[in-house]
Amino acid sequence: MHAAARLDLIPLWFTPFFSTGGVSVPKRAAILRKLAPYRVRPDLPLVFQLIGHEARSLSATAAGFGEHGVHGINLNFACPSKTVTASGNGAYLLRSPETLFELTRAVVEAVPEGVSVSVKLRAGWDSPDRIAENIRAVCDAGADWIVFHYRTAAEAYCPVDASERVRRIARAVEVAGHVPVFGNGDIVSYADADELVQSTGCAGVAVGRGFLSDPWLVRRILSCDANPASEAEKAAFLRLLMAGTDSTKRGRNWFLECVKMTYGAESAEFRDARGSDWTALRARWS
Ligand SMILES: Cc1cc2nc3c(=O)[nH]c(=O)nc-3n(C[C@H](O)[C@H](O)[C@H](O)COP(=O)(O)O)c2cc1C
Repeated sequence: MHAAARLDLIPLWFTPFFSTGGVSVPKRAAILRKLAPYRVRPDLPLVFQLIGHEARSLSATAAGFGEHGVHGINLNFACPSKTVTASGNGAYLLRSPETLFELTRAVVEAVPEGVSVSVKLRAGWDSPDRIAENIRAVCDAGADWIVFHYRTAAEAYCPVDASERVRRIARAVEVAGHVPVFGNGDIVSYADADELVQSTGCAGVAVGRGFLSDPWLVRRILSCDANPASEAEKAAFLRLLMAGTDSTKRGRNWFLECVKMTYGAESAEFRDARGSDWTALRARWS
């Protein structure tokens, strides 16, 4: 993300989730430490994502981040990971529209004026039957916008029929009314994004894994560019990543992951990188 921000490939920061545990609230120093990495591009709007299920700590944490320059708070009601849902967080909360309302409302009331509150939802816990109820709950609570991943938590990352995907997102858009819904799931090209917007009426799209394999994806979508990343773009990105990579084993493994995501696990570039020592890797990508 930092390399992408430096290359101007993202229009805003959208952070990974930060857990608000129990009733404790992070102190000012901890908040500043969390925000420090985003100072590399302070001009980009920063949406900070929180995950939790306790209204008091969630709202106090949101207020704390809001007071330190965050432009928006996003509440994660979507993560299907068993570790997350076992503690009653993330997608587990999709079982109760009342709780979605309560948590969203508490955060809307707590953040300073001008800080947006958005939510990340999946289509449901184990069935998509509650899309309307859940969307209504967060809209009634005052959510400013919604990122909607079309799968249920139970579906994890399994394939879902294309017409069902459209049906679910279109339903979310319909119920949300004036609240913008950004469709999410399996967008890897401008064509995917365009088709999703045309078929569902969603306000825009959010991308996850597609961005990792093509860091130019967001810029491509914003400029309606249907071309895949060029070899020069890929190499420029990896050179920038290499400049910020240290020579520890962890650094090397991380860089190898980046080469794999950029070119694919079966590519000659990845095979070559995996077989190279650090000096050779550096020489190739500096
Ligand atoms: C390893 C991994 C970590 C993720 N972490 C987050 C997260 O912290 N917050 C979030 O809202 N979504 C997270 N997601 C979900 C993605 O944002 C996205 O909703 C999901 O992958 C579907 O979209 P995609 O097909 O474009 O990836 C994560 C997904 C993966 C695979």
